[in-house]
Amino acid sequence: MYIFDTTLRDGEQSPGATMTHDEKLEIAELLEDMGVDIIEAGFPIASEGDFKAVKDIAERSKETVICGLARAQIPDIDRCWEAVKHAPRPRIHTFIGTSPLHRAIPNLTMDEMADRIHETVSHARNLCDNVQWSPMDATRTEWDYLCRVVEIAIKAGATTINIPDTVGYTAPRESADLIKRLIEAVPGADEIIFATHCHNDLGMATANALAAVEGGARQIECTINGLGERAGNTALEEVVMALKTRGDIMPFFTEIDTKKIMHISRRVSTVSGFPVQFNKAIVGKNAFAHESGIHQDGMLKNAETFEIMRPEDVGLSATNLVMGKHSGRAALRAKLKDLGVDVGDNQLKDIFVRFKELADRKKEVYDEDILALVTATMAGE
Ligand code: KIV
Ligand code: ZN
Repeated sequence: MYIFDTTLRDGEQSPGATMTHDEKLEIAELLEDMGVDIIEAGFPIASEGDFKAVKDIAERSKETVICGLARAQIPDIDRCWEAVKHAPRPRIHTFIGTSPLHRAIPNLTMDEMADRIHETVSHARNLCDNVQWSPMDATRTEWDYLCRVVEIAIKAGATTINIPDTVGYTAPRESADLIKRLIEAVPGADEIIFATHCHNDLGMATANALAAVEGGARQIECTINGLGERAGNTALEEVVMALKTRGDIMPFFTEIDTKKIMHISRRVSTVSGFPVQFNKAIVGKNAFAHESGIHQDGMLKNAETFEIMRPEDVGLSATNLVMGKHSGRAALRAKLKDLGVDVGDNQLKDIFVRFKELADRKKEVYDEDILALVTATMAGE
């Protein structure tokens, strides 16, 4: 399964998520180091800054494919090529909105748009042997027209066809069916890679991407922390960990070194200024935290009782036992052990009583609070 990261393009398009040049280079380096197959580094014609970022990322890249975005216009494609050609493995990604709503914007008829697609994809392919084409708003494009334009793009030389759910409108079953039917219906479809690019407007981006994989997509487009326009894109960490955890029903291998996920998630959050919600799957502060007594007790006996992934696999050191009013005595004993405090049963009983009193007043009881309780108990205060 190819992992295509677009944090630096679609992610950076989120209002307020602008990154500096150096931050973009740093994120690209972390993405390559983590094992991402394709990095969409920016939209070269959008600004001088975007052009320079894509060019510098391309020049520094080693094995990862570096991709730039271009509208279906010759000057866009030429500018994109100028930026990505410095990479050992460059890709041009060109797109046009094919749904009725999007066709109305450039005011092109269906035939005129079909000609434009043929002209621009052929032009890109003359420059670069790795060309991706996207019918923007594919999931709201008429079926017959979608088949027609996908076929034109393949004939013109596209090596990857991306099927974007631009406004997060599709649902999982539809997402799977759409890719499957396209592969069956379009001549030449079995010789290229189909990609899925989902937005999260209805909270279904990860489910839709994985459903598309079931339908035959072999490239998932995603961003770190799900950063992206409006409600964001499919989150890289979610699809990668879903494939890793449920390989029994989704047997696809990715090159991602999952132990690097947490670090890159934090860096993207810091440089974009977008905090990660506490309960965000995989990378949220609470994703591996346990507070209720029953959960903590189960975790201490066998982590698999309440964890389907190991925190170490995403780059965390250990499960986080959050100490609060729901925590039980076993969790307190484990926490004391972690803090290097060895107490007998009677002392534990006394400390536990004090701990519960404090936890009733305070939402989260920190390590320092627990150490203070131990000192006070020992001193008989
Ligand atoms: O969401 C979308 O349609 C896009 C395209 C440019 C691929 O980001
Ligand atoms: Zn998008």
